[in-house]
Amino acid sequence: MPPEATPPAAEPAEPETLVPVEMPPDLTRLDYGLDSPSMVKTLAILGGAVLLLCFLMRGPAGASFASAPLTSLRWAGMLCLLQAGLMWWSSSSGKLQERDLMLESLEWRGDEQVLDVGCGRGLMMIGAAKRLTTGRAVGVDVWRSADLSDNWSEAVWDNARAEGVEDRIDVRDGDMRQLPFADASFDVVLSSLALTSLSKDADRRQAIDEITRVLRPDGRVALLESSGTKRYEEAFRGAGFRKVERSGYRLRIFPPARVVVAARGGAAPANAG
Ligand SMILES: C[S@@+](CC[C@H](N)C(=O)[O-])C[C@H]1O[C@@H](n2cnc3c(N)ncnc32)[C@H](O)[C@@H]1O
Repeated sequence: MPPEATPPAAEPAEPETLVPVEMPPDLTRLDYGLDSPSMVKTLAILGGAVLLLCFLMRGPAGASFASAPLTSLRWAGMLCLLQAGLMWWSSSSGKLQERDLMLESLEWRGDEQVLDVGCGRGLMMIGAAKRLTTGRAVGVDVWRSADLSDNWSEAVWDNARAEGVEDRIDVRDGDMRQLPFADASFDVVLSSLALTSLSKDADRRQAIDEITRVLRPDGRVALLESSGTKRYEEAFRGAGFRKVERSGYRLRIFPPARVVVAARGGAAPANAG
């Protein structure tokens, strides 16, 4: 009997190499806040209360009231509710869409130093950071809770982490009328619905002068604002910007807003649309 052949020893299994998995951004955690939260709440409560009052006063047997004052009251209630709804939709959806349109209209190299003036919870600066490679986006704000719900710097970091750009951003406390940055520090300055928060013309003018001061000689500015855009356009022209454009009304924002883009020196012009 020939000796039984012994099976060859199995080769030791190669140790499994673990490939790091890049986690996708968790967009469900994103929250850029509600603009003018007290006004939205007041309009919603007022509208609801007025319509309830109209309902209670509609008369016996469900007959609808026909007197002119009560009809006007009912319209007023519906208008309040409509305004509250439009403002809520603008903050939660319209503003994000307009942000992306505005940033897409600018040309990006990826190495820009970007400033978001009155950044709130980081809407513009995080949108810009997503377009950067070696550049950095900085947000500056005084964090007024009357202007934006849950407005504080930690909310920017939460949103930046959710978008996966926390390594490309920075946040600073500071007033836009006296920006805490050296002259000519930024390639791009962005702002949305922040200059409108300043009640005096002189303060808004000072903020525009500050934006101009911190911008590099070939830098670009893009502002999304509901009011004062004609004056900003004129101020940039007066400051020697070569290319200044003001868009038509952007109706995804309520109240409707316009975009002003301005390029200094020989920078590629941005398109305000
Ligand atoms: C309506 S919120 C808009 C926030 C953000 N840009 C956005 O679009 O989501 C206005 C922001 O301007 C900020 N702000 C108001 N006055 C300011 C000032 N003097 N300097 C810097 N930021 C200011 C408020 O704190 C608030 O975050």
